[in-house]
Amino acid sequence: MPLTLRPIEDADVPALAALLAARRREERVALPLLTERFAEVAACEGVLRGHLAEARCDSVVAERDGWLAGFLIGHRRHTSVEAFEAQYEPPTQASMPGSGHGVAAGEDVEAVYAAMYAYLGEQWADGGYFEHRITMPLGTPASVEAWFHLGFGSLYTFCVRESTPLEASRATQHLDATIEVQRTTPSERAEVLRFQDESGRWHRQGPIFWPYMERQAAAAISEYTTGALSDESNGIFLARRNGVAVALNMLMAPADWGSSFTQPEGSIYLYEGITSPEARGTGAGTAILAHTLDWAREAGHPYVTLHYATPNPSGGPFWRGHGFVPVEVTLQRRLDERLAWAKP
Ligand SMILES: CC(C)(COP(=O)(O)OP(=O)(O)OC[C@H]1O[C@@H](n2cnc3c(N)ncnc32)[C@H](O)[C@@H]1OP(=O)(O)O)[C@@H](O)C(=O)NCCC(=O)NCCS
Repeated sequence: MPLTLRPIEDADVPALAALLAARRREERVALPLLTERFAEVAACEGVLRGHLAEARCDSVVAERDGWLAGFLIGHRRHTSVEAFEAQYEPPTQASMPGSGHGVAAGEDVEAVYAAMYAYLGEQWADGGYFEHRITMPLGTPASVEAWFHLGFGSLYTFCVRESTPLEASRATQHLDATIEVQRTTPSERAEVLRFQDESGRWHRQGPIFWPYMERQAAAAISEYTTGALSDESNGIFLARRNGVAVALNMLMAPADWGSSFTQPEGSIYLYEGITSPEARGTGAGTAILAHTLDWAREAGHPYVTLHYATPNPSGGPFWRGHGFVPVEVTLQRRLDERLAWAKP
């Protein structure tokens, strides 16, 4: 029987939630760090209703012979170039959340995702949304591979680590006793901003090639930093060598950085982790991370999470080498914009 495709209706939600919960149970076999809460149908139902109620939502359910074969949800999003998020989000995109899709057991994962993406992608291309993103929890490699075959590549990797102390390594064994790590005060705002700018410059370079939006979004970044520094629930640290700031770690308590579908409960998010260029490879990053993990654990956060740009040759190996486990990727495909006028 061929697949039939149509928008999701309210009455579909319980069946979609059951499919999503089954997907989570399967993912957790390989990645037990993924939140267990969403192995429960009721929790998934809440998440799905939230997605469907959001603005500019597009959705599709695939059926075969009247039986559920899969579903896919995406949102058209707009981001001002002056917004804080402009550092990470393009002006327009269609974004499919990690908890917004699934394929039923026994179905051909690649074929069902392809049919559903064609259905939604057509609408997005027609509407001028040429950048498409999908978040995929890892743990079911066939699903990630299906999107790779649909032309998507990895943009971000999301990691989780227990906030246990750092394991002994070359760097911890040679920890530089001249490095002092201290919690920042609002008066150190300029130094924190300097590191954030350094991060923007780093990500502008190949092979990452992110736009440097720190100029256009300067006011928003500045405002965000002021707020972050005055919020006691955050753990923001600077490492100094002979009084000079050489590394920054910003642990952010508000839970809106990673999706609640993926991050373990009680986790805290490591937003910026950066060492000044001249101090890299001298142990500053390890020293500050050791301190940050101790703080997180003592502040009652059993897990620390973070994103890194998947092509980042520095961040990825450093975090993974210190025990951060990739649990989710955000994949991206950018269509050829000539689609807007080059039509048969
Ligand atoms: C990723 C980053 C934060 C790591 O910080 P760092 O200060 O360079 O980290 P360290 O110096 O502690 O460790 C880096 C390497 O130097 C080695 N090292 C550290 N101290 C050393 C010493 N005294 N002697 C010899 N090697 C040493 C470490 O072993 C490590 O190598 P390994 O990963 O092969 O074990 C930093 O390189 C950076 O700012 N990169 C650019 C920005 C970036 O990518 N940030 C992350 C964004 S997600």
